[in-house]
Amino acid sequence: MRTPIIAGNWKMHKNVGEAVEMVRELDELVADSAVEVVICAPFTSLSALSALGLKKVKLGAQNMYYADQGAFTGEISASMLEDVGCEYVILGHSERREIFKEEDELINKKVLKALEVGLKPILCVGETLEQRKAGETEEIVVSQTTLGLKDVSAEQIEQVVVAYEPIWAIGTGETSNGEDANQVIASIREALAKLFGAELAGKVRIQYGGSVKPGNIKEFMDQPEIDGALVGGASLNVKDFVGIIKY
Ligand code: PGA
Repeated sequence: MRTPIIAGNWKMHKNVGEAVEMVRELDELVADSAVEVVICAPFTSLSALSALGLKKVKLGAQNMYYADQGAFTGEISASMLEDVGCEYVILGHSERREIFKEEDELINKKVLKALEVGLKPILCVGETLEQRKAGETEEIVVSQTTLGLKDVSAEQIEQVVVAYEPIWAIGTGETSNGEDANQVIASIREALAKLFGAELAGKVRIQYGGSVKPGNIKEFMDQPEIDGALVGGASLNVKDFVGIIKY
């Protein structure tokens, strides 16, 4: 059985005070949930959130660089994230791919470094609207998954979470439907089975992301291949995010 994982991706939102206030409340409200709950906050809030001594909510970052240290102005290393109490890190989000021109090869280096220091990567994959219209969805997500996980070992793969986020559904209010997302996620699991064998592939958690809300989460969680959600906008508000976690 795969434990469902619901992660909030706050993107570039909330100062330290706002972050602390919401996560403190969230941690109480979801304390008895069977679902794993993660908040991926901006770097600036992570230490303060970690200092809360959270009972339930785990912390994640939204990006990192793959070098251990050095002259990389503006970057943050995997061990720095580990040091401030992160357990997860989102890698290869479509906003990183599109706005900051990150490619599969770079994302793969980040995935390998995260695993090396003991952080669990949430590897995001997903197609654009044009790619979907051209019938390329499965080809794209399988390619992003395979390239992103190059050289990941059989021992490491269970630490990885994959998030399927169709780009046209992010922040747009448009969602994929449960069945469609399930089918794409099944193709990601098939790609994992080719790389790591069916048994290990069956242990990897794969989330859906893209305009997930309290009103549509159940449709996704009811699907056999979908193990959770990566939530942007609706994770910024405690009531909505709790509604999603308690689907
Ligand atoms: P959204 O974002 O829930 O606001 O669509 C999801 C994401 O980008 O991870």
